[in-house]
Amino acid sequence: MTERPYVVGNWKMNGTRAMLSEARAIDRSSQRLMKVEVALAPPFTLIHAVHKEAAQLAIGAQDCHTDEDGARTGDISAAMVADAGAKFVILGHSERREGHGETDALVRKKAEAALAAGLRLIICCGESEQVRDAGAAEDFVTTQLRGSLPDSIEDAGANLSVAYEPIWAIGTGRTPTVSDIGAMHRAIRALLVERFGEDEGAAIRILYGGSVNPDNANELLAADEVGGALVGGASLAAESFLGIVVAA
Ligand code: G3P
Repeated sequence: MTERPYVVGNWKMNGTRAMLSEARAIDRSSQRLMKVEVALAPPFTLIHAVHKEAAQLAIGAQDCHTDEDGARTGDISAAMVADAGAKFVILGHSERREGHGETDALVRKKAEAALAAGLRLIICCGESEQVRDAGAAEDFVTTQLRGSLPDSIEDAGANLSVAYEPIWAIGTGRTPTVSDIGAMHRAIRALLVERFGEDEGAAIRILYGGSVNPDNANELLAADEVGGALVGGASLAAESFLGIVVAA
């Protein structure tokens, strides 16, 4: 396994300026926990403010458009995300694949635009309960990820993380077994080595996401080939998020 565990809070469509105090509390504590790389992805509206309030954290966006600029009302380009102070972008989250019809090809184009703007990537993948129950989870996830990855990434270990988030575990309190997480992460690792080569492929951190909380984080993060966590609900409060960071 490569460098420090990477624990990222995905605030999703939650967050007003009242939550800046949570970001400050996380920022103050994260330096004490230097053994873990801690990051937050607030809504676009808070990126600049959180970047200012939590100067020691990497701040990211939850999506970006494929285009550099133009007549795209309501959309936000990767360059704008970087200009707001963000250092990374989450792409291909199941809530966008399902909620906005995002295809693997679109996620790949967004990833290429984000890299061109100097952003690091967290590319998400994950299966539905129906696919899992049919025994097709690994085939589905590796096919989805293969179609979502850019063909080449300079220094992939530093610029790419993958988040495996089984859709049926997001927001439900349910999680796969440690054994199932390890099996899926090994399959993802094999794909990354195949795509980027032994050294680069091995350096890419594979995060687990889906109902991670302070009580299960130690066990889930100890699963094979898990290099961190992408945390939703438990990242909205500094206390619970830091409970996961401590367990990482
Ligand atoms: O991106 C992380 C998210 O999908 C996981 O959500 O609330 O199950 O931790 P949650």
